[in-house]
Formats: sequence, structure tokens, C-alpha cells
Amino acid sequence: MLIQRLSRAVHTSARNNPLLDRVLRVDHAGEVGADMIYAGQLAVLGRTSVGPVIQEMREQEVHHRETFERLIREHRARPTALLPFWNVAGFVLGAGTALLGPEAAMACTVAVEETIGNHYNNQIRDIMEKYPGQFKDLLMTLKKFRDEELEHLDTGLKHDAELAPAYKTLKNFVQVGCKAAIWISERV
Ligand SMILES: [Fe+2]
Ligand SMILES: [Fe+2]
Repeated sequence: MLIQRLSRAVHTSARNNPLLDRVLRVDHAGEVGADMIYAGQLAVLGRTSVGPVIQEMREQEVHHRETFERLIREHRARPTALLPFWNVAGFVLGAGTALLGPEAAMACTVAVEETIGNHYNNQIRDIMEKYPGQFKDLLMTLKKFRDEELEHLDTGLKHDAELAPAYKTLKNFVQVGCKAAIWISERV
């Protein structure tokens, strides 16, 4: 009984905090999607020269995903109901762009990571404005992950993303999808 009460006191429950609930749900959904995008890319390009680079990014995404799985449990946040869909959509997006070639896979990476980097920045600003001095550990995690996503963005650019066929159209297409996914995952 006492232990239960103590553990409740340590972790802010997301049930009483809509912002925390929304942050954990959408970030978890996004990291599941990111993990699956790289899984899809690896299924197509795993044995090519860009395989190890993609593998390295995927390992960081797995760590991001597992971190949000833990935070969702600790704060009793509600995970998105659309998890099975994001799993499939992420894999299809990753494998689909990889089938167009390594440059298109990297263009997908640039599009996704730029969107996620901006998304993390918006969240960090939002939390700091609404809860000054609070959620220090969460903010540290968000900043670390944001930096890693921006490194992935640089990796994509370094590996010729901009040489992909119809780079701008492809990037736009992926970013519209990502923004829609973020909007939906904050709510559903
Ligand atoms: Fe990530
Ligand atoms: Fe990333």
C-alpha cells in the first residue's frame, strides 16, 4: 500500500495532465514509426553500402521507442490506438522509398527527421512555457532525442538525399504524411 502510494507520488500521472499524456502518446507513436521506417529501409538496402549507416540510425530509434514505452508505463499515459497502423505505414514508407534507390531512402530520412526535429522543438517550448521549472528529466530526454534526429537528418543529406529523383516532391509528400500522423497521434 505504502509502496504503491510512493510510486504514484514519484511519477506524475499523465491521466491528470493532458499535455504529458499527449506528449508521451505522440512521441511513442512517432518513434515506433521511425523504427519501422528504418526496418523497411534495411529490408531493401540492408546488404548495400548504406546498410550499416541505416542500421546505426535504427538502433537509436529502437532506444527512443523503448524509452517512450517505459515512460508511458511509468506515467500511465494512454498509448495511441493506431499502433498497428503506424507499424505497417512506417515499414511501407521505409521499404517503398528504399525501392526507389538509396538516395530516395535518404530523402525519406531527411523529410522524416526534419519534421520530428521540429516537432520535438515545439514540444520542448510548449512544456517550458506551460510548466516552468518542471519535467526536467523529460525535457532532457526530448532534447537528447531531438539532437539525435537532427544528426539523422545530416546523415541523410551527407548520403545524397538531394540527388533523389523528384527530391522536393518526395520530401513534401513524406512531410505532409508525417504531419498528419503527428496530428492524429496526439488525439487518437
Ligand atoms: Fe527517434
Ligand atoms: Fe531519427
